[in-house]
Amino acid sequence: MFRSHTCGELRPEHAGQEVTLAGWVHRRRDHGPLIFIDLRDRFGLTQVVFDSTSTPEAHALANESRSEYVLQVQGVVVVRPEESINPEIATGQIEVHAHTAAILNAARTTPLYIAKEGGEEEPLRLKYRYLDLRRERMQRNMLLRHRVVKFIRDFLDQEDFIEIETPILIKSTPEGARDYLVPSRIHPGRFYALPQSPQQLKQLLMVAGFDRYFQIARCFRDEDQRADRQPEFTQLDVEMSFVEQEDVLQLTERLFISLVHEVTPDKRILQTPFPRLTYAEALSRYGTDKPDLRYGLELVDVSDIVANTEFNVFRGAVERGGQVKGIRAPGCGSYSRKQLDELTELARANGAKGLAWAALPDAAGEDVRSSFGRFVSNEEMQGLIERLGGQPGDLLLYIADMPNVVAATLDRMRREFAERLDLIPPDTLAFVWIVDFPLVEWDADEHRWYAVHHPFTAPQDVDLALLESDPGKVRAKAYDIVLNGYEAGGGSVRIHRRDIQQRMFDLLGISQETAQAQFGHMLEAFEYGAPPHGGIAPGIDRLVMLLADELTIREVMAFPKTQQAIDLMTNAPSAVDERQLKELHITLRS
Ligand code: AMO
Ligand code: AMP
Repeated sequence: MFRSHTCGELRPEHAGQEVTLAGWVHRRRDHGPLIFIDLRDRFGLTQVVFDSTSTPEAHALANESRSEYVLQVQGVVVVRPEESINPEIATGQIEVHAHTAAILNAARTTPLYIAKEGGEEEPLRLKYRYLDLRRERMQRNMLLRHRVVKFIRDFLDQEDFIEIETPILIKSTPEGARDYLVPSRIHPGRFYALPQSPQQLKQLLMVAGFDRYFQIARCFRDEDQRADRQPEFTQLDVEMSFVEQEDVLQLTERLFISLVHEVTPDKRILQTPFPRLTYAEALSRYGTDKPDLRYGLELVDVSDIVANTEFNVFRGAVERGGQVKGIRAPGCGSYSRKQLDELTELARANGAKGLAWAALPDAAGEDVRSSFGRFVSNEEMQGLIERLGGQPGDLLLYIADMPNVVAATLDRMRREFAERLDLIPPDTLAFVWIVDFPLVEWDADEHRWYAVHHPFTAPQDVDLALLESDPGKVRAKAYDIVLNGYEAGGGSVRIHRRDIQQRMFDLLGISQETAQAQFGHMLEAFEYGAPPHGGIAPGIDRLVMLLADELTIREVMAFPKTQQAIDLMTNAPSAVDERQLKELHITLRS
């Protein structure tokens, strides 16, 4: 037997037992005749004592050992005296007195300290990811991810879902992001695409009668990277037949609630049932379709108060079809000119032309400091303060512009002040459903409608009549689940009738020929009795990131890529040899 116990297993009840442990040298403390080694494996740490008087040979090996050497140790479990108990670790009440040891493998000095977190730049961690993964935090994150996925599989199995794998080499079907393409060797000039999601395949599985499908599915999207985006990521992909939106929402909600309850019981869900906001309401109150509901700081419309003001910036914005909105930063009324200039810069960086501010004095009788006071009447100023619920000592911020700029800027301000004012409660999960998304949006540059979710999303029945006459007004049977300000998942009820799908393609300007070439298989399938169906796809990486209190999804992925989509460990993407290219009928232009 290589080992009798793991390094996380021994307790006082094992006292007197002869044990064998194997693991890495986590820490080594040399006290001359006594050497202490904390031996580490996935399960924990155990203190091993080497005594030069009783066991000189084992002591000599311990003396030779360095950090991250791999050791096998035989010894006896001894209960530690009261004063040397270590309450920090699970095995802290015992130690193992070694009598024999073997160095299974030596280790060079590692470029990362395993025993000490952090400090170094992320690229170094990614280059030596296999060392970084030895650290407690990463071990914890990987374990959490495993538990989340295992819980999901068990839960859905109980609910009569079955997991079906779908291909990674598929047909390119533009869905939103850019595809990763794979050239075919056998068919010169032809390409597979890596799936951006199994969207079409899961719908075809519904046509195939596999009601209640799921898959822990890898997805590939060649898009700009951000902290919560990777070129390949994992979705919990779900599809159900004979359902309405409400069925999908309820299932997802039950799944998330029991998941949190079972896997991260130290976390508190702010509100159940999950609150629901329409897309329009979310934008109006929070300036975003992924609002963080762990704090307030809502946006307030003041357009009506300043519609006829002398102040050109405000009146002009309203006249041009825009709006003026504000938020209240409690207790920030003493901000210095420099701080206010910085805030103005932040507003500009988010697209606003400026920032109007009013700093309310602490005591009544003192004057309001304001960037626009001299341009508005006393009544208008009074109205602006009252509408925002301004209290003595508050800072009030206003943006005048078109609604999208106002929303983007005040969303940023809202998040900024939540941080500055420490308004975010710890260990709190604020789930919220965003519903009633618009079906299509107008792309002014390309002069065409495009699908907000994807072209297979069903319009709401009541809005169907507007599909040709007023497409911008049509709401979709689409929904997002938002968690702490992140889009944690999205889905929709699908179009299952060929005639409506055709009207959708017409609206999107997808010609008969293009539709046939790109989605012919789907259209044909829908002619053989497609059941009404719908689904959702929560992003596993983002979900685990939030449950693990991490700030990027890279911290919950074993081998992530950098923001530039590079794998620093293997150096992919890399050049390939001439012969491989030739086989794939590819010539590189230099
Ligand atoms: P959608 O495109 O909204 O929907 O994706 C669903 C969820 O996947 C996660 N996600 C990502 N996570 C990490 N890196 C990325 N690059 C990335 N892109 C998306 C998000 C997102 O909410 N087929 C549809 C689902 C459906 O209609 O059923 C789809 O893929 O958490
Ligand atoms: P100005 O007339 O440019 O001197 O602006 C007067 C005040 O209005 C200054 O405090 C500006 O920062 C502010 N301001 C300018 N443009 C906007 C805008 N789009 N929204 C809100 N405030 C603005």
